[in-house]
Amino acid sequence: MSGSTVSGLEMPSWTCVSEKRMTHIQRVTALLDEWASKLALPAEEARAWHDAGRLHDALRDAPESTLRALAGDSPGYAIEMLHGPAAAEQMRRDGERRTELLDAVRYHTVGSAQWGRLGRALYMADYLEPGRKFLAEDRGFLASQVPHNFDGVFRQVVRFRLEWSVREGNHIFPETVELWNSLR
Ligand SMILES: [Fe+2]
Repeated sequence: MSGSTVSGLEMPSWTCVSEKRMTHIQRVTALLDEWASKLALPAEEARAWHDAGRLHDALRDAPESTLRALAGDSPGYAIEMLHGPAAAEQMRRDGERRTELLDAVRYHTVGSAQWGRLGRALYMADYLEPGRKFLAEDRGFLASQVPHNFDGVFRQVVRFRLEWSVREGNHIFPETVELWNSLR
C-alpha cells in the first residue's frame, strides 16, 4: 500500500490524523530514534522502534465506525482507546508480521505485562515526548534517563500514568493492573 511523506515521516495511505497529532507522532518517533541510537540498538530493532512511533497513532483521528470495524471486540474500550488495536489490525492486513511491533501499537494506551523492550519504549516515549506541557521538567529528566535506566524509568512512567488515571476517576484496565503488578 502506498503512502506519503508527512513532515519527514513516511505515513501509510490509511493515516487519519490532525496536523497537531502529526507533530506528536514526530516527537514520539524522534525520541525513540534518539534512545535507539544512545542504546546502540541493532539496525533492525532501531527500525522497529521508529515504526512504532510512526504508526502508533496513525488512526488517532479516524471516525468511530472505522475504528470499531478494525478493532473488533475490544471489550470496555472507549472510543479514545480503539486507535491502538485498530492501527495494529490495519498494519497486520498490510502484511506487517513483526509481532512485537504489532503488540506495542495494539496495547500502547493500556499497557501490557507481556511487552519486551519495544512496547515499553513506545509507552514511555508516548508519555515523555516534550510537546506535552504538564510536568515538563520531570518528564524531560526521565526521558534523558531512559538510555541509562530503562527499567527504572519504565516503572516510574507506569506509576505516573496509573496515578493520573486513578485521580481522574478513570476505568483501570486489567492489562494496566497486570502490568503494574508485574513491576512491583
Ligand atoms: Fe501517542
